[in-house]
Amino acid sequence: MSRLVVVSNRVADPRKAAAGGLAVALGDALNKTGGLWFGWSGKTIEGGASGEGELQMDTAGNVTLATVDLSVQDHAGYYLGYSNGVLWPVFHYRLDLARFDAGFITAYRRVNQLFAKRLLPLLKPDDILWIHDYHLIPLGAELRAMGCTNRIGFFLHIPFPPPLIVAAIPQHEWLIRSLFAYDLVGLQSEADLRHFSSYVQVEAGALDLGSNRFRAFNRTVKAGAFPIGIDVDEFAALTHAKEGRDMHERMKEEYSRRKLLLGVERLDYSKGLPQRIRAFRALLRKYPENLKSATLIQIASPSREDMGAYTDLLKELESLCGATNGDFGELDWMPIRYMHRNVARKRLPGLYRAARVALVTPLRDGMNLVAKEFIAAQDPADPGVLVLSRFAGAAEQLEHALLVNPYDIDGMAETIQQALQMPLEERQARHQHLLASIRRYDVHWWRKTFLDTLSTISRD
Ligand code: ADP
Ligand code: F6P
Repeated sequence: MSRLVVVSNRVADPRKAAAGGLAVALGDALNKTGGLWFGWSGKTIEGGASGEGELQMDTAGNVTLATVDLSVQDHAGYYLGYSNGVLWPVFHYRLDLARFDAGFITAYRRVNQLFAKRLLPLLKPDDILWIHDYHLIPLGAELRAMGCTNRIGFFLHIPFPPPLIVAAIPQHEWLIRSLFAYDLVGLQSEADLRHFSSYVQVEAGALDLGSNRFRAFNRTVKAGAFPIGIDVDEFAALTHAKEGRDMHERMKEEYSRRKLLLGVERLDYSKGLPQRIRAFRALLRKYPENLKSATLIQIASPSREDMGAYTDLLKELESLCGATNGDFGELDWMPIRYMHRNVARKRLPGLYRAARVALVTPLRDGMNLVAKEFIAAQDPADPGVLVLSRFAGAAEQLEHALLVNPYDIDGMAETIQQALQMPLEERQARHQHLLASIRRYDVHWWRKTFLDTLSTISRD
C-alpha cells in the first residue's frame, strides 16, 4: 500500500486530541494509515541565524513528523502577509480587508519553494501526497518543477469565492495555474465547486471534460466537493468522559434558572461576531421575557493577533459586549459572558451540551466544525437547537438547523427567539436528522472518499 504524506502549515502530534479543526482531521487520517506529516514547526528564528529552514524529524506513534523553522521575516510575509492578509480575506469575500500591494508574494513563493526543496528528498516513488489549505496552493507546482511525479491531491479548507472575486488578486492567474499541478482539488461544498468550475473555464480557458475534470496548461485536474466532518464517536466519548461531564454539571448548576446561548470560535472577522451580538441585543429589546432569563456565553479564542483587522475586531467586540451588559444588565444578571480565550478541548463538549441554543453565524465559512461538534455533544432526549448561518459551508448538509442570514439582524433575532421557544418534539426531530448527517459524512468518510478518489483517478 502507498504511504500517505500529508503537508499543512500547522503540524501537530496526531495522538493528542487538542489541536482543533484541520489538525484533528489530519491527525485522524494519519493515525489510520501511518505516514509522514510535513509542515512548519511553529517556531520562528531571526533571519540568517543557523537552523533556518533546516529539517527536523520526530515520530509520534506510527507517524513521522518532519518540520522546518521559518525566519521571522519569511513567516511574516508568508503567513501573516500573503496567506492571511491577502488570500484569507479574499476567499472569505472581504476584498476591503485585503492588502494587495504590500509585496507579500515574494515570501509566500519562497516558503513554498523551501517546503518543496525539503520535502522532495523524503519522498518515495509511490507515496501519495495530500497538501492542505491556502498557505500551500503553489506547493504542488514547485514539487512538479523539481521532478516529482507522485499523485498529489490538494484540499482547500476555506471557501472558493466566485470568479470575479478571485480575479481581484493580482497573482490570480499564477495561483490557479498552480492548482493544475494537482491530480485532485478538493473543496468543502457544492457552491465552492461551482465557483471553481466556472473560474477555471472563464478565466483560465479550461476545457470541461465532464465529471468535474478540467484540462488547461497541458494538464488535467479533477475537482470535487468533500465536506470535512468530525469524529462523532470520539466527540461523544469526550462528552461522557469525566471532564466533559464535570463541565456539563457545573454549567447546568450555574445556569439552572437561565437559558444558555453559546458561541465558540476563533476571534475572526469571518465569524460574524458583531452581527451576532447586535442580534442578541435586538432579541432582548423585542422580547423582554428574555431579560434576566437568557445568557449568551461567547468564547472567542485569540487568533492572528499581530494583524490590524483582528485587533480592530477585538475592540469592536469588547465594546459591543460592554455596551450590551451596561444597557441591559442587572445586579444579579449579565446578558453576555464574553471570554477572549481557548477552552480545553476536553471541556468543550460539556459546554455545548449545557447550551439550549448554539449560535454559529459566520458571514462566510469554509465548513464550520463547531456546528458539527455542537450536534455530536447533545443529549438526544433533550437536545439544544443549532442556529446556523446560511453562509457556513456546513449549511448545505445541515438543513435541519435553523438557517439565518447573519446580515439581517432583526431576522436573526426572530430566529433566536424561535430557537429559545422550540418545543421538545421539534428539537428532537431536528437533532435526529442533524446527527444522522454528521454521522454519515464524518471525518473518516472525508479521508476515505478523498484518498480513494485520488488513488484511482486516471492520469494523463
Ligand atoms: P476554523 O477552522 O475557521 O477555526 P472550525 O469551526 O471549522 O473553524 O474549527 C475550529 C476548531 O477549533 C473546532 O474543532 C473547535 O472546537 C476549535 N475551537 C474553536 N474555538 C475554540 C475555543 N475558543 N476554544 C477551544 N477550541 C476552539
Ligand atoms: O480552517 C481554516 C484554517 O486556516 C486552518 O488552516 C487553520 O488550522 C485554522 O483555520 C486556524 O488558523 P491558524 O492556523 O491561522 O491559527
